[in-house]
Amino acid sequence: MSYETILTEVKEKVGIITLNRPQAMNALNSDLMTELIEALLDFDIDEEIGAIVITGSEKVFAAGADISEMAEMSAVEMLTSSFVELFDGIRDIKKPIIAAVSGYALGGGCELAMACDMIVASEKAKFGQPEVNLGVIPGAGGTQRLTRAVGKALAMEMVLNARNLSAQEALEFGLVNYVVPVEEYLDKALKLAKRISVRAPLAVRQAKASVNKAYELSLTEALAFERNAFYFLFATEDQKEGMQAFTEKRSAKWQGK
Ligand code: CAA
Repeated sequence: MSYETILTEVKEKVGIITLNRPQAMNALNSDLMTELIEALLDFDIDEEIGAIVITGSEKVFAAGADISEMAEMSAVEMLTSSFVELFDGIRDIKKPIIAAVSGYALGGGCELAMACDMIVASEKAKFGQPEVNLGVIPGAGGTQRLTRAVGKALAMEMVLNARNLSAQEALEFGLVNYVVPVEEYLDKALKLAKRISVRAPLAVRQAKASVNKAYELSLTEALAFERNAFYFLFATEDQKEGMQAFTEKRSAKWQGK
């Protein structure tokens, strides 16, 4: 499949999506978001792929939603264009998604990174929600995911006062998993994705769904979800193989069955 605003490739069992609008700081216009979701859905149903990495360039992950596309839009046009709803498509992806972020991850760019399951950052990464400078607020999950990730006090400062976080601050406040030199961030993300991609696919899928429930349900409901996901895995061949391999002191051969 060829795209206009993103590049895609598969390395071993990892699907890689590179945001590719360098002339506009990888601003997320509706074409890019549509292509991104299409590529994610393709990777999600590809049995040869076990994990996905989304990245940009060393200078910019994404500088937010495309301001030139939104500037003249009315409230009704924003509503009916469903632009921010496109971000919800990321939630439907069952395979793990890692954001490999260097440079600016601002506005919708920060929201895109936060919609992924993990973030690997280069030392040059900068995270922020500067929408207040444009007379608006984050509209693709920023006020919610940021608050859950870094807590209320810091989220308030970032959203109300456009405070950016350096990569090191993002690490300290729990927004990202790793910070590494800029020459290494993509490689680090790919290695992490590759290690996950060779694990038991159904267990990884259930694990991702279950951790995500921690954000959405009460503890009682989320524990019930986890328990059912756990019980379900005992109906898989991979569970039998995994436990047998352990007792036979050999590596398991996963089939995703
Ligand atoms: N939308 C459209 N175009 C953008 C853009 C954006 N979000 N961000 C940058 N660009 C364009 C610039 O207009 C410029 O285009 P021209 O060369 O044609 O003039 C080009 O990219 C390069 O940008 P700069 O010259 O500004 O580059 P810089 O290195 O001086 O600054 C930056 C980089 C700090 C990221 C700066 O571009 C910037 O502040 N961008 C906007 C960030 C922002 O406000 N993001 C929030 C968007 S709203 C949103 O995301 C809503 C939501 O929640 C969904």
